[in-house]
Amino acid sequence: MTDTARADRVIGDILSRIHAAIREHDITYEEYQTAKQWLIDVGEAGEWPLFLDVFVEHAVEAQVFGDRKGSQGTILGPYHLPDAPVLDPPHELPRRPDEEGDRVMFSGRVTDDQGRPIQGAELDVWHADAKGLYSGFDPSLPPGILRGKVLTDAEGRYEVRTILPAPYTIPEDGPTGALVHAAGWSPWRPAHIHVIVSAEGHEPLVTQLYIDSSDYLDNDVANAVKPELIVHPRPQEGTDELTFTYDFALARERAAATV
Ligand code: BEZ
Ligand code: FE
Repeated sequence: MTDTARADRVIGDILSRIHAAIREHDITYEEYQTAKQWLIDVGEAGEWPLFLDVFVEHAVEAQVFGDRKGSQGTILGPYHLPDAPVLDPPHELPRRPDEEGDRVMFSGRVTDDQGRPIQGAELDVWHADAKGLYSGFDPSLPPGILRGKVLTDAEGRYEVRTILPAPYTIPEDGPTGALVHAAGWSPWRPAHIHVIVSAEGHEPLVTQLYIDSSDYLDNDVANAVKPELIVHPRPQEGTDELTFTYDFALARERAAATV
């Protein structure tokens, strides 16, 4: 199908569905003007990435990767920064000297989808702090904390030390938050650690690990929780750390799309 034919079909279908909703819900001119102003406000506030990642990305991820081999992925979200440093052992994410939050160590293996270990796979890890804030996005945090990249060893093993993040709300003071409140929805995301696992010849895996004790696992505003992604940090005898394990299996790179 040509690009024009696909645009005609897809955009035409989206518009038809909007027209059907207007008829079904008997939309008034007042509501139309409110929606128009809200769309303008989202653009002016720079919240299109936020809005799309909260309400749309999960459906795209499920559609694109629904039949992928290997580990489950989920949404990327808007808070990834690509230039985090590769960390030296002992692979501790940078943090403030007085960083709040329970210490945690997680470890596991990166393999291909046949269980063969992948040496030199990269785990790009980032997460919110114990107040639910992300460095690089909330100016009260030092830049670069709670972000870093870790490489696997010859057996495909990795180990990361950090603190447990807290659940957080999506920003509530802008138009996306206004929409959530107008509809009476919860603005919360459960506590999670983001990871992108990548290795040559394999599909990058964009995923999140959800802390089993977190609130909102069954009411995530971004609809991104999957049961396979829930992890179980537990106290480790003889240390003040919680620990959990998680193995990642990467699918082989898809053949280049044929036109
Ligand atoms: C996140 O996981 O960081 C996220 C995802 C969607 C919207 C906002 C944040
Ligand atoms: Fe997040």
